[in-house]
Formats: sequence, C-alpha cells, structure tokens
Amino acid sequence: MKNAFARASGRPATRLRPRTALVSAAVGLAVVATSVVVASSASAATTLGASAAEKGRYFGAAVAANKLSDSTYVGILNREFNSVTPENEMKIDATEPQQGQFSFANADRIVNHARANGMQVRGHTLAWHSQQPGWMQNMSGTALRNAMLNHVTQVATYYRGKIHSWDVVNEAFADGSSGARRDSNLQRTGNDWIEAAFRAARAADPGAKLCYNDYNTDDWSHAKTQAVYNLVRDFRSRGVPIDCVGLQSHFNPNSPYPGNYRTTLSSFAALGVDVQITELDIEGSGSTQAETYRRVVTDCLAVARCTGITVWGIRDTDSWRSGGTPLLFDGSGNKKAAYNATLEALNAGGTTPPPTTPPPTTPPPTTPPPTTPPPTTPPPGGAGCTASISLNSWTGGFVATVRVTAGATRLNGWAVNIAIPGGSTVTNTWNAQASGSSGNVTFRNVSYNGTVNPGTSTEFGFQGNGVGPTATPTCTAS
Ligand code: G3I
Repeated sequence: MKNAFARASGRPATRLRPRTALVSAAVGLAVVATSVVVASSASAATTLGASAAEKGRYFGAAVAANKLSDSTYVGILNREFNSVTPENEMKIDATEPQQGQFSFANADRIVNHARANGMQVRGHTLAWHSQQPGWMQNMSGTALRNAMLNHVTQVATYYRGKIHSWDVVNEAFADGSSGARRDSNLQRTGNDWIEAAFRAARAADPGAKLCYNDYNTDDWSHAKTQAVYNLVRDFRSRGVPIDCVGLQSHFNPNSPYPGNYRTTLSSFAALGVDVQITELDIEGSGSTQAETYRRVVTDCLAVARCTGITVWGIRDTDSWRSGGTPLLFDGSGNKKAAYNATLEALNAGGTTPPPTTPPPTTPPPTTPPPTTPPPTTPPPGGAGCTASISLNSWTGGFVATVRVTAGATRLNGWAVNIAIPGGSTVTNTWNAQASGSSGNVTFRNVSYNGTVNPGTSTEFGFQGNGVGPTATPTCTAS
C-alpha cells in the first residue's frame, strides 16, 4: 500500500519541487509581505483528497467497478480522492442476487483498489426499498424481515474491518410534506425495521460508522429533513446504534442548494452524529455551478462534524445525470471551474484542526450509573473461558451476538453451548460452526478465531426464527 499521506498530499513527501523552490526564493528576495502570501499558496494542497485530509476529512467519489480499466478514470481517482463509494456494486441486487447466495466480486474490485491506494470505503447500501433482487421484491412480513436482517448481517460481516461508514438504511422517508415513512415492502414489516437493521449492522461490524442516508434532506425547513432529524434524535435517546447521517445532496433546478444548508448540517451534528455529504452533484455549468460547489464545501468545513464529502461520479459522463453535467471533471477528464472552486474552498478552510471522530459508540443508557461500586467481576476462571450473549429480537426472529472470553490461559479452541428455546431454530451462523439448529446447540470456533489470548475476547453470531435464547451460555476450552 502506498504511503497514504504522500498519496493524499498530492505532493512528494520529501522532495521540494524545483518550480516551488524558485518561486519561493524569488519572492523571498522581493517583499516580505508578498512572500508570506506566495509561501502560503505554494503550500496549499493540490488535490481534493489532500486538502480535505489536512482538515481531518475525506473527499470521495462514487466508483463503478467496470470503469476501473479506464486509465483516465483511474488516473483521476487515484490522484484526487481518498475515499470511494461503490455506485451500485454493494446494493442488495448486486450482493445477494439469489437468496442466500452472495456475490462480492465487483464490490471486492472496488474495495481492493481502494485499500491498495490508501482510500477509505463507504459502504452503500445494506437495506433499501430499491434495487432489491427479484426474490426479495416478492417477499413480505417475517420472511422479508429475516431476509433483510440476514442480508445486513452477512454483507457487513463479510466486509467487517474494511468499511469506514455504512449506509445501513437508504431513503426510507417519503417526499413531500407528510414527514411519513416511505411505503415499501420493508416498511410494511413494521416501523422498527430501521432500528433492527442498525442493530444487526452494529453486531456484524462494530468498527464501522453506521449512517442513515437520504435525498431531499438538505433544506432544514422541509418535512422530510425534520422527519429524519426526529428519527436520529429518537435513536440517540433510546441507544439505537447510529453514528452518522448521510445527506445525498443531489442539487438541480427542482431541488436547489438551500440557503439554510449549513443549519441542516449543524443541527444534525448537534445530535452527536457525524454528517457526511454522500452523493454530491450539482447540475449546471460555469461559474454558477462552481460557486454552488464552493458554498457546499465551505458549509461542510464550518461544521466540525461534517467529516467528508463524496461526489456521485468522477467525470460528467460518468454521472447518472450526465445531461446535467453535474460533476467536477468534464467528459475528457479535464478539471472544470467547479473543480477549481471546490479545491479553493477546501484550501480556504485554513488549518482547522481535524474534528475529533470518536469510534462508534452506543449512546450511554439514560439510567444513572449505580451509586455503589458494581460487584467485582471475577476473572474468567482458570484455564477455561466464559461466554455472554446479547440479543436483537423482533417478533418472530432474533440475532444473537456471543462474546467468548479466555480465562488465565490462552485458548486454542472453544465450544459454547446454548439452549435454543423450544419452537425456535437457528437459521444461520457466522464466525462459528453450529452442531445443529434446535435444542442444545454447540457452537465451535472456526479456523481463524480458535486462538484467544488470556483475558481477551472473540465474537460470533447467529440468527434464528422464534424467540432468542435466555439461558446463560456455557463455554468450554477445547
Ligand atoms: O449494468 C446494466 C447494463 O448491463 C444494462 O444494459 C443497462 C440497461 O438498463 O442497465 C445497467 O444497469 C444500470 C446501472 O445503474 C448501472 O449503470 C441500471 O439500469 C440503473 O438503474 C442503475 O442506476 C443506478 C441507480 O442508482 C439505480 O437506482 C445509478 O447508476 C446510480 O448512480 C444510482 O445511485 C443512487 C444511489 O444509489 C442512491 N441515491 C440516488 C442515486 C441516484 O439515483
């Protein structure tokens, strides 16, 4: 992997460019005040990713796997961007074309390219009413709820550790003035489908930031914006795991950049979540388009928790709305006025210290901490192990996350016995091998997680129909 900073900086890490040296020297001989200005502009980052990185942020692009063989496209991608979002390759129809059969080849091409070039990856998207495969479009009720949660779990587990942020749920609110949820097969499984998806995503990849993503949520006065705000506020108050809000920000004459955009960004941020501009494109041309890009970037930099911007494509011809020429590069890959304004706005962000981006956390419970010291938990006994279970349950199903903790000696293998309640069944397991699907089920380590050092833990999970287990699991070193 290339040195991420050297790549992101857009400049050689140690070598001073001859032209820069000459300019600096010449100006230095002239007027001191002028030399300060030139020195400052000479040190300005020359790429979008480098400039954003200097402010502790990312600047990304939506990428299509089938364009990774286009050298102009890849040249711009590698030079300018330090984050990518697969444009279509992580959607449900792409990753689970047949139920239970997962297909990651195209998404992997993008993820591998990103990782080899020091870019982070935004995952898009785990649960959405659109771009569902045929088998899912025809499902409803508990079967659909379970299929959706299984999809979230399997995909987030597969990419565990590789995704900076997941769009866990996409576009779940209706347009217009109702502020209501969008009607969809997922919505008809029950209003709690969104939080169930977030809990499953957290269980599968605890290190990824979990985002709710939507469009037409840029104008603070719009009912849809307020509805998403209320969802996030509710999740935060109830401890539902959510770390970020994605504003797609597709701007065009029917949905223009709103003057209160910064208020929207800062209002979401005040809920204690990051704000990410996830699918930015601005239809238009010339200086009008350029100035709107400048305003969007300036607004983001003014809000500490606006942590990154992704444009939805690279060249105008790559855009889903190519007729509106909404991106930063023309069809030949040349920088547009919009590019120059974007870079200038990023560089004008000065030396704003990077916003602190704490790792994803579940908000603290609203119950006050106990006033007496909690009982000391004895260390896991001797050479054995202990196991604890946490459940995400809904009517008719559950996802269980089991933590296996080694005792005083290193584990070289483990087995956890869990009583599955009568009438319930285990439908799939990850990071462990199950002995069966009902009754007393033993979950044994798989090849890569049998070794657990003293006092440390590993996790596995399983999903089931019916009610989840209530008895404490027992762990045995094997
Ligand atoms: O790859 C096939 C090709 O083989 C086939 O010949 C052709 C014929 O229609 O279709 C091609 O697939 C298209 C795919 O883009 C790849 O180009 C699909 O039809 C088309 O529906 C799909 O559109 C995508 C759209 O989401 C679908 O909803 C756009 O590329 C993608 O940019 C767009 O992205 C969405 C975000 O996910 C969510 N927010 C809105 C945004 C813009 O709509």
